[in-house]
Amino acid sequence: MTKKLKLKRIPEGRSGHFSIIHRYHPHLYFNGKYIRYTGAMLIDNETMWMSDGPEERLTMSSAVRWCPNNADVLIGGLGLGIVPRWLEQKANSITIVEFSRDVINLVYDYIKTAKMKIIHDDINNYLDKTEEKFDFVYLDTWPDLNASRLDEIVQLKKLAKNVLRNENSRVICWGEKVVRKAATEV
Ligand SMILES: C[S@@+](CC[C@H](N)C(=O)[O-])C[C@H]1O[C@@H](n2cnc3c(N)ncnc32)[C@H](O)[C@@H]1O
Repeated sequence: MTKKLKLKRIPEGRSGHFSIIHRYHPHLYFNGKYIRYTGAMLIDNETMWMSDGPEERLTMSSAVRWCPNNADVLIGGLGLGIVPRWLEQKANSITIVEFSRDVINLVYDYIKTAKMKIIHDDINNYLDKTEEKFDFVYLDTWPDLNASRLDEIVQLKKLAKNVLRNENSRVICWGEKVVRKAATEV
């Protein structure tokens, strides 16, 4: 079983219209109790993309569960680089596709290892054009889990089939179950 690392917080900073800011939450409710937590948030002008809080990390933890040992991994969306750092021990290689040069500037230098490669591209374009094959694909390029995300997820999953190495290879999309449930309720 792979141990989940305690991750270093990505420092505050600004690049273009993206910022990373740290916020202290004195009463964050998690796992049935209130905790104190200082978290990093990735924000652009209009969008709060993510935080590194425990509740958000929980929503990404399926990546570690499903990633096979020694996998060649593709990750759509760098964000705060939580999933690539978690998979570092398990993976053989980790290719990350991120469409914002600003996010790459703010985050990549703090997480990169010899196993990782960053590609500045739109994940739709990359999945459509690449000839590379992967054992495990983790897609997380949307900022919320609203029902309206379902079409995007379905389309990306279809495209991702192009890059799977064999029938055991798997695609996981962040929050897919929650989005599907929300879509049945609208
Ligand atoms: C929620 S974050 C990803 C979090 C990441 N799973 C982690 O481990 O920290 C989403 C990221 O996807 C990027 N993104 C959004 N749309 C994209 C696209 N079409 N192609 C590539 N990256 C995209 C955003 O700039 C952002 O960095």
